[in-house]
Amino acid sequence: AINRVFGRQILDSRGNPTVEVDVELVDGSRGRAAVPSGASTGANEAVELRDGDPGRFHGKGVTRAVAAVNGEIAGAVCGLEAEDQALVDATMIELDGTKDKGRLGANAILGVSLATAKAAAAAHRQPLYRYVGGVGATRLPVPMMNIVNGGAHADNPLDFQEFMVAPVGAPTFAEAVRMGSEIFHTLRRRLAAAGHSTNVGDEGGFAPDFADADEALRFVTGAVEESGYRLGSDVTICLDPASSEFFDGSAYVYRGEGVTRSVDEHIAYLLELAGRYPISSIEDPMAEDDFVGWKALTARAGDRLQLVGDDVFCTDADRLTSGIEGGYANAILVKVNQIGTLTETLRTVETAHRAGYRVVMSHRSGETEDTTIADLAVATGCGQIKTGSLSRSDRTAKYNRLIRIEEELGRSARYTRPA
Ligand code: PGA
Ligand code: ZN
Repeated sequence: AINRVFGRQILDSRGNPTVEVDVELVDGSRGRAAVPSGASTGANEAVELRDGDPGRFHGKGVTRAVAAVNGEIAGAVCGLEAEDQALVDATMIELDGTKDKGRLGANAILGVSLATAKAAAAAHRQPLYRYVGGVGATRLPVPMMNIVNGGAHADNPLDFQEFMVAPVGAPTFAEAVRMGSEIFHTLRRRLAAAGHSTNVGDEGGFAPDFADADEALRFVTGAVEESGYRLGSDVTICLDPASSEFFDGSAYVYRGEGVTRSVDEHIAYLLELAGRYPISSIEDPMAEDDFVGWKALTARAGDRLQLVGDDVFCTDADRLTSGIEGGYANAILVKVNQIGTLTETLRTVETAHRAGYRVVMSHRSGETEDTTIADLAVATGCGQIKTGSLSRSDRTAKYNRLIRIEEELGRSARYTRPA
């Protein structure tokens, strides 16, 4: 049973406060989890509670969320069995009493939810991926590695947020990391040679002053080929334009390019890029409230392109069900802090899998050294993970955790391209 719950304020990768929680069981087993934080957040995400006190951390303190962990939440969950994850999570949801977890804070609730699962795993002397996923949890995810950052994650003029490489043809996860790292360093050299900045953005990818997506794609595909990998069979390209960030309600306003595209023109542009480059996946190709656009694009390209809903679904099983019924997207990005508990996260993954939607486990642009999502990718067998570039410890911590999991699984480990 849960004996002690303790929350504290720590810093995330952007230097902003975030919540960390320790859960200790009666038998002495412990679990610790730290909560991530987004920059290009969806409008329907669970609420991240911040203090709003301008005199401390510029208003970004999380002492109220920490107080909720140490007060009300600790009072409600102490005594519950840590194995009863569904009850622990339901207890916190009921205690909060709002639809968006805004009273206690999704950051408070998620910290306790994940730390509880880790404490239970420790009590069973099992790694988290096996405790959550069982003996069948042997599939390593294909990483989508974000090597060029734009949008809200960098201060360059690039309208699209993420340009990623996916080493789909690698034989193992460790080899996928090697390929990504080689491509990353080749890209650095090519950027420097062309007189571009090699400084990195929030997710550890380069953030040069590229004029448009086409220039970014030329550099990325050039780096893949120069590294000795075949485009399409060894490595595919994935995009996250994060289109909600530049949709004005009727059109897509590309501020960096200085061009405005109608919904139809935006779709045509994306498909044109996907025709010229080996793009296998586009996340948030359409804005979260552009349902007409989502439907149109899915009908036109859903059979050959992975179309991943991030802002449009916010890891919410009910929002995903609307998408499945409405015919938009064919995959979902899963971010634990968009929904706020492990139980709800697993339910969303199950809903997606039952409908034949693919699942991509994901970090946030603000991260910590916490590696829970690496275990959850293996636990769910979802087959894909998005956790940033090949630099910065907040990103590489997840890759390193997956390397260790692959080693631990030994001959039972499987690495296969998403089918
Ligand atoms: P965020 O961005 O974590 O800043 O919201 C990540 C994404 O859009 O996928
Ligand atoms: Zn996204």
